[in-house]
Amino acid sequence: MTATIIDGKQLSAQKRSELAQEVVRIREGGVLPKLVVILVGDNPASLSYIRGKQKAAEEIGVGFKLEHFPESFSENELLDIIEHYNQNDEYHGILVQLPLPEHINETAVIEKISPLKDVDGFHPINVGRMMIGQETFLPCTPAGIVEMIKSVGVEIAGKNVVVVGRSNIVGKPVGQLLLNEHATVTYCHSKTDDLTSYTKGADILVAAVGRANFIKGQDIKPGAVVIDVGVNRLDTGKLCGDVVFDEAKEVASYITPVPGGVGPMTITMLAHNTVQSAKQFLLTK
Ligand code: GUN
Repeated sequence: MTATIIDGKQLSAQKRSELAQEVVRIREGGVLPKLVVILVGDNPASLSYIRGKQKAAEEIGVGFKLEHFPESFSENELLDIIEHYNQNDEYHGILVQLPLPEHINETAVIEKISPLKDVDGFHPINVGRMMIGQETFLPCTPAGIVEMIKSVGVEIAGKNVVVVGRSNIVGKPVGQLLLNEHATVTYCHSKTDDLTSYTKGADILVAAVGRANFIKGQDIKPGAVVIDVGVNRLDTGKLCGDVVFDEAKEVASYITPVPGGVGPMTITMLAHNTVQSAKQFLLTK
C-alpha cells in the first residue's frame, strides 16, 4: 500500500480563499479583523512561525501587528501590553508566542488574555469550553488536524485514535477534539510501556512527541491514518517529523507530510479564529 498524502498546503489554500471572502463581508460591515502577535526575545523558530502567520494574515486580508520585545522584558510589562490589547476594540485576536523566557510565568500570561480574544484557545475558560463541547476558540493545531482528517472523508466516529504526546498545545486537546467527534481515544507518552502495542492498534495515529523519526513503519497498523505533528530540525538543517515518512507511507492509507502537512493548517486555523472573533465582535457592535 502507498498512502495518499493529506496535503496541508492545498487544503490551507482552499480555506484561506474562503476566509478571504468572509473578510470582505466583515469589512463591508465596518470591521477589519485584526491580530496582534506578541513576541518576547528572539527565538529563531518563533520568528519563523510568526513570519508564516503574518503571510497568512496578509493573504486573507486580516490586519496583523507584531509587538516584539527584548528578552529582558518583564512579566508585568507583558501583562500591561496584553491588557492594552484586551481593551483595544481594533484587535480581535491576541497571540503571545510561546515559549516565553524563563522569568515570565506562562500561566499568568495565558490567563491575562481576554477569553474573547484568545485565538490560540489556550485560556483555561476556552479549554474548559472545548472539553465540554461548547462553541469556542479551538486550539489551532488540533483543530487543523480534525479538518485534515475530515477533508479526506475518513469517518472519525468509532475509530481507535492513539495520540502519542500529552502537551497542552497539541496532545491533550487533539485527543479531546477527536473524542468530541466520537472516537475512542488513547493517550501515550514518554513513560508508556510497550508503546508499539498501542500504536499498532490505532486507526488514526497522531504523533506529537517532538522526536525525529520516533514512529517507524512497524509501529503502524496497515491502513491507518497517520498525522505527523513533529517539526524537528536535523543537524543537516532539514525539517523532519516524528514519523519515518518513507516507511509509514508504505503502511498507512493516508499520511501528512513534514513540511507541508499540519504546519500550514495550524496557521490557517489561527486566521480562522481571528476572523470568527471579528465576526462575533461585529454582531455585538
Ligand atoms: N509556539 C508553538 N506553537 C504555538 C502556538 O500554537 N501558539 C503559540 N502562542 N505559541 C506557540
